[in-house]
Amino acid sequence: MAPRTQYDTIAEIAKRRGFYWPSFEIYGGMSGFYTYGDLGTKLRRNIESLWKEFFVRRQGFLELEAPVINPERVFIASGHLDNFKEYSSECKKCGKSFRADHIIEEKTGLENVEAMGGNAIKSLLVEHKIRCPDCGGELKEPSLILTMFKTEIGATGGEIGYARPETAQAMFLNYRRGFQHAREKLPFALAQASKVMRNEISPRRGLQRLREFTIMELELFFDPESPACPWYGEVCEEEISLITEKMEAQGVTEPLQVTVKDAVEKGLILTEWQGYFMGVSKQYLIALGIPTEKQRFRAHLPDERAHYSAQTYDHEVNIESFGWTEVSGCAYRTDFDLKAHMDASGLDMTVLRQDGSRFVPHVVEPSYGLSRLFLASLSESYERKNKRNIFHLPRSLSPYQVSVFPLVSKDGLHEKAQEIHKRVLDAGVWAFYDEGGSIGRRYARSDEIGTPLALAIDYETLSDGSLTIRDRDSWTQVRVHGSELIEKLMGFFKESYEFEELGELLERD
Ligand code: GLY
Repeated sequence: MAPRTQYDTIAEIAKRRGFYWPSFEIYGGMSGFYTYGDLGTKLRRNIESLWKEFFVRRQGFLELEAPVINPERVFIASGHLDNFKEYSSECKKCGKSFRADHIIEEKTGLENVEAMGGNAIKSLLVEHKIRCPDCGGELKEPSLILTMFKTEIGATGGEIGYARPETAQAMFLNYRRGFQHAREKLPFALAQASKVMRNEISPRRGLQRLREFTIMELELFFDPESPACPWYGEVCEEEISLITEKMEAQGVTEPLQVTVKDAVEKGLILTEWQGYFMGVSKQYLIALGIPTEKQRFRAHLPDERAHYSAQTYDHEVNIESFGWTEVSGCAYRTDFDLKAHMDASGLDMTVLRQDGSRFVPHVVEPSYGLSRLFLASLSESYERKNKRNIFHLPRSLSPYQVSVFPLVSKDGLHEKAQEIHKRVLDAGVWAFYDEGGSIGRRYARSDEIGTPLALAIDYETLSDGSLTIRDRDSWTQVRVHGSELIEKLMGFFKESYEFEELGELLERD
């Protein structure tokens, strides 16, 4: 049996406590679909809110929410129907299909086989005598298969439709409206955090590869003759780890340490806008609890790159159970998409310059898979200590901010604790109340779902109004007066107070 990985442990806690679990489990499950429980839903919302802080609110970008199902002509024009394909190999014995590059990677340990192209994939399958991973049967030669969900729009059958595999097309379809709402000024961006679907051939590795998931992405429209980003100075000195296209082609795995500014000046990153978003991306991931040394940017080779992209850098995170994993892609889509929709719709999407010339705006797109970030945050924050599970999630991410416990459920402590719980809820804090089992077990349960603070109400609370606050990370405790509690909690969650500033330090529990 394969050894138990950190991911197996996290998946077990996730099911038991309510972060996530495989969907349709009462009917045996269906790979590529996951359901998020109470904790997972809250954690996802916090990751998304933070994304909006870093990528939408700060810059005053515009938001959008558009349909998941699109008519076929959208994806004919965008090039997805011709290009959104993967190599699939079918087993001659059991009939199951597998993504060819993935089964080669599993068997050989090679990385990024997709980037090697179709001929390499075909010969690697033969060279390594790869057989069906499920039944050991012989595999057919792989062929390219469209990985989009197809449907009919209209209950009695009508137009063919597809579920969108990216939200980006909505930003291009609605570009003319967006331009109008942005007062006809470039640069501007349309952002969307919403569901997409990809009919993956054989999704494995749990949350890493899903058939239905949330993408958080934005399309930044700019004039290629005025390519400066107004906020570039905020991040251009950020040092990033870069594996350029040339390094990737030469098999160099040790990344270059370089500032965003140097990378743009040397032409390693094609546009200032990509540099800007890559710098912000580094900061966003740090806010999600991913340290710099677990982050790198890796360029796609031409065979790996999407049909619309002139350059793509994946932002990768070194996740304990999976190694370097893509959580985001930052692509320079040029004017490819707007031109495609302009040609197909016959509508003008050009912009007039002051000198009278016309141009189609260029686009840079940073795009995040929410579930991958979710997994990276859980993995990076997980610790097993003294036989306890702890998620040291950043304060702004934890599903619940505080837990509230009476020391015992008698002598009026239960009523006092409920009163304090209500005060905390009324102040806008996500708090849960727990009075089951010993106080030690309740602290352990609180740590296991990543709650930063636990409030304990005891006999002193009844006599002098003070209560204990316990820190999830250090297990130290402070004593605070009830009258200061809300102000202290607010300061802590705004990151203006550290734990030790919340009250008078007590001995360890
Ligand atoms: N829009 C980015 C992607 O499709 O991956």
